[in-house]
Amino acid sequence: MSEVQPSILESEGKRGMIAPTIIVIFGATGDLSQKKLLPALFRLFCAGYLPAALRIVGFSRRDLGDEGYRTFAREALAVTAGERKTELEHFLNRLTYIAGDFMLPASYQKLSDGLIVVEGEMGQCANKLFYLAVPPVSYEPIFKELADSGLTIPCSDELGWTRVLVEKPFGNNNETAAALDRTLGLLFKEEQIFRIDHYLAKEALQDILMFRFSNLIFEPLWNKNYIDRVEIKLFESHGIAERGVFYDGLGALRDVGQNHLLQMLALVAMENPGGLDAAAVREARAKVLQALRPITASSDALERTVRGQYAGYQDEAGVAAGSQTETYFRIQAFVDNERWHDVPFYLESGKMLERALAEVVITFKGTESFFCRSKENHHHANILTFRIQPDEGISVLFWAKQRGFTSQLEPKKLAFSYREEGGGSTRIPDAYERVLYDGIAGDQILFTSTDEVMAAWKFITPIIEHWKETPLHQYEKGSTGPRVEK
Ligand code: BG6
Repeated sequence: MSEVQPSILESEGKRGMIAPTIIVIFGATGDLSQKKLLPALFRLFCAGYLPAALRIVGFSRRDLGDEGYRTFAREALAVTAGERKTELEHFLNRLTYIAGDFMLPASYQKLSDGLIVVEGEMGQCANKLFYLAVPPVSYEPIFKELADSGLTIPCSDELGWTRVLVEKPFGNNNETAAALDRTLGLLFKEEQIFRIDHYLAKEALQDILMFRFSNLIFEPLWNKNYIDRVEIKLFESHGIAERGVFYDGLGALRDVGQNHLLQMLALVAMENPGGLDAAAVREARAKVLQALRPITASSDALERTVRGQYAGYQDEAGVAAGSQTETYFRIQAFVDNERWHDVPFYLESGKMLERALAEVVITFKGTESFFCRSKENHHHANILTFRIQPDEGISVLFWAKQRGFTSQLEPKKLAFSYREEGGGSTRIPDAYERVLYDGIAGDQILFTSTDEVMAAWKFITPIIEHWKETPLHQYEKGSTGPRVEK
């Protein structure tokens, strides 16, 4: 079995990861845990990227014992593990299960007793990571019970840590997010709180930050003088699956706009944070979100936004009859600061679209090239594309002379693909691997701060309000979204 390699962790400056650690998953039998967390933990485990002394404690309502949970996990990991049967058994041996209702104080006593037993088996007090893979309605009671039960007190003042990882959506609007944040702030220190936006943890998204500040041929052009527009897209070809009730109360803008798309925008537009210090990077992202030009009236919403719903959405299980929930949106945003004044940032996302992709497309201003005889197509813009998924990569469209006895220009591409590099064998870590890895390492760069969350809600909340007075356009499944010219 590949046990943890301290050398790997140390060489990455992650010495903190060598300490004994318990990961407690709230909602251990839920969808997220089954599809994302257990596979991510297993892959990290096999790669030697988890502490050697590690235990994973599943905490859920379902009445399962340790063996029952291991069977559940074995099934969840069948595809991920493949032939790695020995590793799988070693991994499963690290799992423990505690049944409990999150709403009941008695469950936290049970959890606390259970953790004491686990620490007894580990032979020492361990760091604790509480991962809330539960519906947002449970957040507040869980935060309170966790704090009241003393479970979040570290081993000692000098030794160890306890952290809480929270999934989005963090609140439902300005007010609920602020209230939730106040509760969190009273119960925990900011360095204990890890608000997850799994998009930030996507490998190709991290590259926007790296690329921007490491390439002199682009950085001087990164402003309103040279950039014409920025398009940020998250297109999905699937619908809402079994999430009807949850999604219908949320809509696309809250589901992916308030978080994933605005975080992509923040990474493109932020100022140089001067290094990879978490506080500086988070502050630079927050400043961009705070500078978003508000949409202050319905007329503004009508002009700068489109919202749509795919045909057949109202027949999906769990969706209310006559639902006005959007499954698609397109927003023209502006960042009102010196660098970006009046450059449009288009945020677009939808479900059941023709193509599934996530990308950021930066179109530079065109040149009027005198090499081009034809008057058609004479604005020769360069286009830089960050492909987040699928086929992660970066490409630049540029203009070159057509071959032969002509002086016409034609578009060409310089492209780099993550997967093709290394003969297609390069494995790109899944976002949840990164979330868990950084959560254990205590690195908050890829997690959102209070300021970011609040600024994003401040921008989104009025749009949702004004949408009550603007049309909801229907679009066909498998199309490119509503046909509305804007
Ligand atoms: C989630 C949304 O946050 O992100 C889902 O709740 C969406 O509705 C998903 O499908 C998209 O993430 P990914 O990683 O599959 O692109």
